[in-house]
Amino acid sequence: MFKGLFQTKSPVKNEKLEFDISDLDMNNIPKHIAIIMDGNGRWAKAQGKVRTFGHQKGAETLKTIVRAADAIGVKAISAYAFSTENWKRPITEVNFIMDLLSRYLTSEIQEFNENNVQVRFLGSREGLPPVVIEKMDNAIRETKNNTGIILNLAINYGGQAEILQAVQSIAQEAKDGSLDVSAIDKQVFEDHLYTAGLPAPDLLIRPGGDLRISNFLLWQIAYAEIWTTKTYWPDFTPDHLVEAILAYQGRERRFGGLVEKK
Ligand code: FPP
Repeated sequence: MFKGLFQTKSPVKNEKLEFDISDLDMNNIPKHIAIIMDGNGRWAKAQGKVRTFGHQKGAETLKTIVRAADAIGVKAISAYAFSTENWKRPITEVNFIMDLLSRYLTSEIQEFNENNVQVRFLGSREGLPPVVIEKMDNAIRETKNNTGIILNLAINYGGQAEILQAVQSIAQEAKDGSLDVSAIDKQVFEDHLYTAGLPAPDLLIRPGGDLRISNFLLWQIAYAEIWTTKTYWPDFTPDHLVEAILAYQGRERRFGGLVEKK
């Protein structure tokens, strides 16, 4: 579905974009964008359809947004696909999402490779169906040499659980004697997170109208700019992405310091 969609007039890609990036400052593109893909169920309900129809459409939206982000020059997208709390949903919905993930990770490999997308995963594998784990491993293997945008799919992910597992493995290393307690600093801690090696998100996007973090990348979003829209995720378009980045570019990032006014 990607083919032909992003022919762009962008000076970066020398193709023709179907959305307008002319207002963007190409020297200030967020490197890493985190997305809480919310509103699938409400979107489906508004159409008189079952919730799972919204997830199906949401997966399509993700494809479109990854391509748009890549064309704009974003280096990484972290998308919240399934949280550690989502197991509390009805079993039919959980099964549908697992099946959707499994199908997505099968059908999209070729697209990922054609578009130079490297797929990674954030989250715990514990409790995931073996078939999903198999597809995850396959996606990692098949796309690991791609050098374009990184797509981090957060599956069975919780920010608090991520921090706890980092603490546990650091404590274990200290106990084993391979890590000195006095050497535990921010860098060591971040090296034990699922996002090790990646810059922290500059921008967090939440569609669907709720103003919550929902346990997503708690450590990593310490200084992320937050942008929300009432638009449900299945209706989210590259134009919304551009709008979010424009808002980001209008923010003054101080990282706790002061910016001197001239
Ligand atoms: C939140 O919407 C969405 C989820 C919990 C799942 C997100 C899943 C997808 C976008 C599809 C799977 C992804 C891939 C990559 C195959 P919600 O169900 O909470 O919606 P609501 O707030 O309207 O109820």
